[in-house]
Amino acid sequence: MTPAGIRPVGEALRQAGSAADDAGWSMPESFYTDPAVLELERKHLFEKEWICIGRVEELPKPGSFFTFQLCDEPLVAVRGEDHRIRVLSNVCRHRGALLASGSGSGSYLLCPYHQWSFHLDGRLARAPRMEAHTDFDQSTCRLPEFVTEEWTGFLFVSLAPNPAPLAPLLEPLEAMIRNYHMEEMTTRFVADEVWPTNWKCFIENFMEGYHLTPLHSATLHNVNPTRLSRHFPSGEAYFGYLSGFPPDLPRVRGHPDLTESEVHDCVMFAIPPGLVSGCAGDYSSFICVQPEGVDRVRLKMGLMFHGDEWTDDAVEKAVDLSIRTNAEDRAILIDMMKGRASKHFSPGPIAPDFEGTLLDFYRYLNRRIGASLAAITGG
Ligand code: FES
Ligand SMILES: [Fe+2]
Repeated sequence: MTPAGIRPVGEALRQAGSAADDAGWSMPESFYTDPAVLELERKHLFEKEWICIGRVEELPKPGSFFTFQLCDEPLVAVRGEDHRIRVLSNVCRHRGALLASGSGSGSYLLCPYHQWSFHLDGRLARAPRMEAHTDFDQSTCRLPEFVTEEWTGFLFVSLAPNPAPLAPLLEPLEAMIRNYHMEEMTTRFVADEVWPTNWKCFIENFMEGYHLTPLHSATLHNVNPTRLSRHFPSGEAYFGYLSGFPPDLPRVRGHPDLTESEVHDCVMFAIPPGLVSGCAGDYSSFICVQPEGVDRVRLKMGLMFHGDEWTDDAVEKAVDLSIRTNAEDRAILIDMMKGRASKHFSPGPIAPDFEGTLLDFYRYLNRRIGASLAAITGG
């Protein structure tokens, strides 16, 4: 641990915790670069909280699976013969090879090394040539299983044994997005990327509307300009803002349950630490966020669409806008890493309302890791 680096982080988070909504400041450099901070985040957030690993519709039938790495745990999400989704350890019980890779479907999870096979519920099916072993009970051998929760079509897992349920903490958010019916949308695009930035920089950028017009002047500004962004009150386990569409923009209307004002808003929400999403009537985006180091973040990025009127061409156009927008975000985040490393950088003020979500994020982190930071620095 390096108390010298994390002391300013603890102080800055404490200040964010008590600052007025229109008097917030951004974070010091060590917030994004100190390995001791990341260690605390992994221990208190990623290894403990509910972490989104993808969408339920990625597992359409018994045998469908996809893999995901959560901290040091290789996981496989799989739909069983009983149609239940389970998240299992993707590590072979023989000598530890990884079982599945990528996504696909099959009747068993088969280890490529010596071909041990496991049922879709995690029980060992077959361990070839092991019958003669006198100290191995095949009937009790199974893959460890982790607790899961499904919420509006998102699949969450926790590495903690008995976490408090997630849904009650998200009730006000669920009420805001209910009419969009994300659980009925279909994921038509998923990409796995690694960006050379800190995971919190990625979340901060995705979750503020202040940069939409200036940075994305040729892309997202035409769809979601900064002037139509409005921060909404955060909850214990979520925060976000509404990103408005210009009323005259031609768009697919979305679910008939949507009110007139809901049609014209995208609900940008974060369920920290691992999910950000933009929920809109026509189509929505989601990104599962996993740190792989202080300056590396793995992103599972998806787009999901409402209704049947989405042709392949229309989907491709939406994907293209997302790719061009992401390229602009990626470039500025890489530049920021250089800017923040300057000896002359110091934290700047947060735009009231337009960057209110940053303050929400810092307050969330203060609640979750503030006490541990203080314990380490003796403050
Ligand atoms: S490590 Fe999987 S069968 Fe040997
Ligand atoms: Fe952006």
